[in-house]
Amino acid sequence: MAPTALNTTPKIHALLKDLHNKSLTQESTLSWPTLPARCTTEWDNIMRDKFIALDQDKCELVYHILRSIDATNVVEAGTSFGVSTIYLALAVAENAKRAGGQGKGMPRVIATEKEETKATIARGHWAAAGKEVEEVIELRVGDLRETLTKELGVVDFLLLDIWTPLALPALKLCQPYFRPGAVIIADNTVKLGDHYQELFDYVDAEGSGFRRVTMPYSGGIDMIVYQ
Ligand SMILES: C[S@@+](CC[C@H](N)C(=O)[O-])C[C@H]1O[C@@H](n2cnc3c(N)ncnc32)[C@H](O)[C@@H]1O
Repeated sequence: MAPTALNTTPKIHALLKDLHNKSLTQESTLSWPTLPARCTTEWDNIMRDKFIALDQDKCELVYHILRSIDATNVVEAGTSFGVSTIYLALAVAENAKRAGGQGKGMPRVIATEKEETKATIARGHWAAAGKEVEEVIELRVGDLRETLTKELGVVDFLLLDIWTPLALPALKLCQPYFRPGAVIIADNTVKLGDHYQELFDYVDAEGSGFRRVTMPYSGGIDMIVYQ
């Protein structure tokens, strides 16, 4: 068996495998070049019943980073059916366990999803994963440009797995809360490089406080560190 970053039960491994398979099967039916523009009503109508989950290897990378930076308070921009959220929840729960009550506070994943129907399905997946996962997730349903204006605490990590026009607004809303060394992961930064230009310009600007590297995962993934 290939090594895995994920320290969890066979039940959760099986659940995640099943959810990733379902997501990939759905995605294979989409003809990406012919889809309408992101953040339009037509796009939303097509995506409302789609997982579009972060790839499994990227989810494992995210989990690994969270364990490494000892993240306990993380934000997810774009939750959908809650697949990547399970990895985030498992990592913050493990980190809190490692701290044995001496940590920075209660572990928490602030998840964001604008579609009520997707939020309901996500909650079902978290319930299937069990209490350890369910109990650390705070799901904020609605437009993240609104829901992320509420209290965020000190943010260790932000996952940008959101339609690209929302990546920079989400980053800016979290920025005042980032701890030094906070990590931001953005998905599909090579495949959708043109769409991410605003985010790149902001992060790469002299004195921005951010540094980034692009990693050679499918479609590219950027790891940004807040200095
Ligand atoms: C790529 S999917 C997220 C996949 C998820 N991270 C996973 O791996 O399972 C992006 C999600 O962002 C949601 N979304 C789009 N616009 C949003 C907004 N303004 N506020 C909150 N969520 C939004 C979409 O409905 C979609 O479910």
